[in-house]
Parts: sequence; C-alpha cells; structure tokens
Amino acid sequence: MHTVSTISELRDAVRAWRSAGLNIALVPTMGNLHAGHLTLVSEAQKKADRVVVSIFVNPTQFGIGEDFESYPRTEHEDREKLNAAGVDMLFIPPISEVYASDAKTVVSVTGVSEAYCGAFRPGHFDGVATVVCKLFNMVQPDVALFGLKDFQQLTVIRSMVRDLNIPVEIISVETVREAGGLAMSSRNGYLSAEEKIVAAKLYQSLCTARDAVLARQQPYPEIEHQALLFLREFGFQPDYFSLCRVSDLKKAGAEDRELVLLAAARLGKTRLIDNVCFFK
Ligand code: PAJ
Repeated sequence: MHTVSTISELRDAVRAWRSAGLNIALVPTMGNLHAGHLTLVSEAQKKADRVVVSIFVNPTQFGIGEDFESYPRTEHEDREKLNAAGVDMLFIPPISEVYASDAKTVVSVTGVSEAYCGAFRPGHFDGVATVVCKLFNMVQPDVALFGLKDFQQLTVIRSMVRDLNIPVEIISVETVREAGGLAMSSRNGYLSAEEKIVAAKLYQSLCTARDAVLARQQPYPEIEHQALLFLREFGFQPDYFSLCRVSDLKKAGAEDRELVLLAAARLGKTRLIDNVCFFK
C-alpha cells in the first residue's frame, strides 16, 4: 500500500491510474478503523480497480466541547488493517494540507442537515460537507462509499453531490454490528464494559419501534414517545428518536412508505447514533 500525505503526491498517483484506464473508489474515514470501515473497503474493491482510503480527523466537523482532541488516533494499526485488506493507497494528510489558515469557503447543505444531529451539533454537517467536497476534488473518484450507519450524513452528501454536479457515484453500505446489535463505531471505545452491554438497547429500541410502525397499532408520535421512555429507563439521555421519510428526512406521515427511524442518545460520556431503514 502506497501512503501519501500531500495532495500533489495523491494527484500524481491518481493521474497515473487514470491514464492506464483504471477507475477509482474513495472511502473517506477518520481512522480508528473497525469492521464497518473494512466493509466499505471490500465493497469499494468490488466497484473499482483502485481503492483510496483517506484518514483525516476533520476539525471543522467537531463542535466546541466535543471530542476532537480525544478522538482515537490509531494510525499504526489502521495502516496494518488497510494493508492487509489490499488497499492501494492511504491518504493521510495533516490539517495544514487540507485547510488553508485563511480558508473562506464552506459547503452548507440546507434542509436535510438542519434537524436531528444538525440541531444537536451546530455546524457539524457544514464541516462534513466541506471536507467531503474537498476530498472529492482532491481524489476525483468515480465512486465513493459511505455507511448507512450515518444516515443523515449520507443524505447530506447525496444532496451536495446532486446540487453541485459532482461527478461521483455515491454507494451506501449496510451498518456492521456487534453480535448484540450495537452498531460498530470508533466512539464505542469510550464505553465501559457495562455501558457496552446497555448500548445494544439503542438498536433494540429502533427494532421495536419499527415493528410497532409495521403493526400499525399506535400513532407515530406515541411510538417515538415509548422509545424515548425505554431509552431513559436504561440510563440513556436521548437527543432524538424520530420516524422520518427517507426522501428528505421530514417527519413521516401516514402516506409515506420508505421510512427511516433515526436516533441519537448519550450513554455516560458517549454519544451514540443509529437508525433502521424499512418499507411500510
Ligand atoms: P467515520 O466515522 O470514520 O466513518 C467513515 C465511514 O464509515 C462513514 O461512511 C461511516 O458511515 C462508515 N461507518 C462507520 N461505522 C460503520 C458501521 N458500523 N457499518 C458500516 N459503515 C460504518 O463518517 C466519518 O468518518 C466522517 O464524517 C467523514 C465522512 C470521513 C468526513 O470527515
């Protein structure tokens, strides 16, 4: 695996691949790689001739008082995992390579980035959209892969790509879970052993709510309310638990068929997010 930390080295390699007629996949990450990230890599290998993985803990998507400083940085282990997975190139730039100190441009996707995590983490999705747009410009991939785990993030990126006519195909990948159902996440490392057992209840609450929607027994707000009570009972502090339609993440109405339940909750000092997507 070739590792580069500058945009010019990255572009040289990508240019050589392109002139050889090869197509390119990008998997953007913030590192501390787990099986979820590695599933994106293996899907990328099915879609393209060459796979670039980026590792960049993006400061602009962290709010004041969030975990930018303490976010797990495990470059050595990450490099070994990517090498073993047969990744062609790792792009691991320093902050100064990505952001000019006097940068003036921010990519802001209105609507879909405003509620849910956008409301609880002001500026977060501007940071995500800006860095992903920049990574697309740096790598110019044919395809880019993102996890359904971060459903709102995926929706924001799809909107950005459409609105800005970025020539990349966005591919979504199913959430990879622990045996108990907990969605894998770099932030799960903040959980104590006891919290990790309780954390699986978040996915359980989503599955229960999905089944209640499909059984058509209760009004949607009542289902959301029950889920919030369930989570509080197990010691979570929920930020939101919302039944939405997939198309624009607005609150689902009775006529909507393609649905997603989005949830975020804090357990101790860890903020967990998860979702389930289904048809009614
Ligand atoms: P990060 O949290 O490192 O996630 C990188 C990618 O892995 C994202 O597309 C995310 O949805 C996916 N992912 C995370 N956990 C997953 C799981 N359990 N199953 C499947 N996919 C999973 O998301 C980010 O980084 C950043 O916001 C980024 C897009 C890199 C921009 O900075």
